[in-house]
Amino acid sequence: MEVLFILLIHFFEGEAHTMRALVGDDVILSVDTQTSSDIGEAIVEWSRTDLNPDIVHLQDNRLTIYEHQNPAYRGRTMLSAEDLDSGIISLKLSNVRLADEGKYKCLFKSKENEYFVQLLVGAASSPVITLEDYTSSGLVLGCRAKGWYPQPKLSWWNADGHLLSTVTMTTTQDPDRLYNISSTVVVERKSPNRPLTCRVHQELFNQTRETEIHLPENIISGLARSCRTTDGLIAVAVVLSLVTIVVTIIAYRTVYRKS
Ligand SMILES: *[C@@H]1O[C@H](CO)[C@@H](O)[C@H](O)[C@H]1NC(C)=O
Ligand SMILES: *[C@@H]1O[C@H](CO)[C@@H](O)[C@H](O)[C@H]1NC(C)=O
Repeated sequence: MEVLFILLIHFFEGEAHTMRALVGDDVILSVDTQTSSDIGEAIVEWSRTDLNPDIVHLQDNRLTIYEHQNPAYRGRTMLSAEDLDSGIISLKLSNVRLADEGKYKCLFKSKENEYFVQLLVGAASSPVITLEDYTSSGLVLGCRAKGWYPQPKLSWWNADGHLLSTVTMTTTQDPDRLYNISSTVVVERKSPNRPLTCRVHQELFNQTRETEIHLPENIISGLARSCRTTDGLIAVAVVLSLVTIVVTIIAYRTVYRKS
């Protein structure tokens, strides 16, 4: 009973509900004032106490007041007039940035009507596969993904859905918090003609980005032959152009199939 009571107090004190958005998205922070009537004439203030100035969006009687707005939010905020008609305060925040992550406070009319929304911001991008090197045992493929947040995990898979073991795995983080992740695998000479997939996944935002590469066996065995007979640079050039052709054909087919 006591626990329930404490939970209820937390709830009514305006425990923040959490929203997630990716960098570049538009997000709507929404609170229901439960008045079910037109509140468009009221003063509505969205702010972040960790910022100075702290005003994210201020509106009085349907007019936006820009004077005290934090410059980082200039031109990116809008209150839905339609929602205000039915007692809901919806703040649309455009082109979300990593720095938008934080706890937002919404004041409606007076301090008695205070609501909180916690915004979490993530970032994701597709990985890129490159041919890094070749060795006597096969090709060294690299996979790189940049600009992720929070920290993602990278994995390589074959067509059977088996995890490949990696040779290297490196994660770096920029001062602006974004992570780069890269990894290499060696594709053995006897590797069958199958696509390989590099997958980057981030659990909290449930984001997955994949890139696939098709490596026909004759490229790899051709490389092995040329390694024995010719200069390695020529072999690399041959493999690179073959891989480029294969990747181009696959990309073309994918686009063609979609259209
Ligand atoms: C992440 O990758 C980008 C683009 O390749 C690069 O500009 C940046 O310096 C990298 N950051 C780190 C910490 O490695
Ligand atoms: C994560 O996203 C995939 C689709 O991208 C979806 O099928 C899956 O249910 C999601 N998982 C969770 C835990 O939300």
